[in-house]
Amino acid sequence: MSETTRFTLHENDLPKQWYNILADSPVPPQPVLHPGTKEPVTPDFLSVLFPMEIIQQEVSRERFIDIPDPVREIYKLYRPTPLVRARRLEKLLDTPAHIYFKNESVSPVGSHKPNTAIPQAFYNKAAGTKAMTTETGAGQWGTSLAMACNFFGIDLEVYMVKVSYEQKPYRRIFMETYGAQVFASPTDRTEYGRSLLARDPGNNGSLGIAISEAVEVAAGSGGVKKYSLGSVLNHVLMHQSVIGEEALKQMDLAGEYPDVVIGCVGGGSNFAGIAYPFLRQNLLDGQRTRLVAVEPTATPSLTQGVYAFDYGDTARMAPIVKMHTLGHTFMPAGIHAGGLRYHGMAPSLSALYDAGYIEALAVPQVGTFEAALQFTHSEGILPAPESAHAIRAAIDEALDAKAKGEKRVILFNLSGHGHFDMQAYQQYLAGGLVDYAYPSAAVAEAMKDLPQVEGVPA
Ligand SMILES: Cc1ncc(COP(=O)(O)O)c(C=O)c1O
Repeated sequence: MSETTRFTLHENDLPKQWYNILADSPVPPQPVLHPGTKEPVTPDFLSVLFPMEIIQQEVSRERFIDIPDPVREIYKLYRPTPLVRARRLEKLLDTPAHIYFKNESVSPVGSHKPNTAIPQAFYNKAAGTKAMTTETGAGQWGTSLAMACNFFGIDLEVYMVKVSYEQKPYRRIFMETYGAQVFASPTDRTEYGRSLLARDPGNNGSLGIAISEAVEVAAGSGGVKKYSLGSVLNHVLMHQSVIGEEALKQMDLAGEYPDVVIGCVGGGSNFAGIAYPFLRQNLLDGQRTRLVAVEPTATPSLTQGVYAFDYGDTARMAPIVKMHTLGHTFMPAGIHAGGLRYHGMAPSLSALYDAGYIEALAVPQVGTFEAALQFTHSEGILPAPESAHAIRAAIDEALDAKAKGEKRVILFNLSGHGHFDMQAYQQYLAGGLVDYAYPSAAVAEAMKDLPQVEGVPA
């Protein structure tokens, strides 16, 4: 066994193709429905929002899709990312488990989100798009797309959930330095935003609302502005597969293979990014790695949500997809993992979870920050609160292995750093954070607002 701590790949080892789980998924994908007619959407409808190349990727069943050279060139600014053996954390926990993490926090903006922002901006540029819109919760996604749009000379409007806009001014300024315009959502720039503010001027916003505003602006722009989503959709999850493809090679360098792969889940993209290439090995190569998606108890869309057709946004303008959902009317509690506060979950991930190919668990906020600090104290990296959910689960796996006297190989995705989350850490250090479990009665209530979908196989 080598004593190596960081397993690094050469630039030439950067994957040349993305992996598309839909080629191998044993559960057939469900149709995507028009929010108005509730009939399967046509490329015409989607082309208002997305360039054709992205739409083709969204519905593709090809196993591998080539990564364009200009995208690989930009990936080289931070990829391949390191795989790190968390030896000091292992020591702290006094566990026989081997803990590895894939460090996606080394990207210029501090998270995995550029893995899809860069190709999305590239395909828009190729299609002649001059301006784009998007939403952002915690700000990691908005910053990533701001960087990518800046590289490709595309204007960007970011609708940022108001509570994050106020809590994280430096994230906003970061986006502005790339040239993006950032608005606190709900805004008075959209019909939907104005209607919400008229009812409640103090509305703190949600990801579902910000998506509605970004979609409304793009859809009403007469084709001038395209919309971009940072998670949930098939093409986004596929772009993130570079994480897992690299990790497969790096685990090989380490001479080990993970018994369990762990990632936090908001819309599902960083988890799918690391887990789907390992799921392929399970499905096609006889491996038996457990794949564990970790969510907050405050937003438990997999563990408490219902697997049903629902709108992707609050104003019901985005397509209807079958997913694990807390209901599109969901208003999140003010927990600090802003990137994990979406009401739904990626359809491919929801289907695989429903069919038992993926495990899920929900962890509370305070224990998550405890795990974050153990990680900071031992490995030196201050994780994003989102990523700390994966750390919590990895530590619990390592402690379980210790209790059972097992040598378990654990791999988790460090999806980002927490350098812009100081307010959350400050509150944690001051003892001001509390646990919150989303009430099951609220889920049941929200289910009354699900779209009635007929004639589609359940
Ligand atoms: C650092 C980080 N990790 C995870 C997430 C959750 O998103 P996803 O499930 O799409 O990876 C976010 C979302 O903003 C994030 O910023």
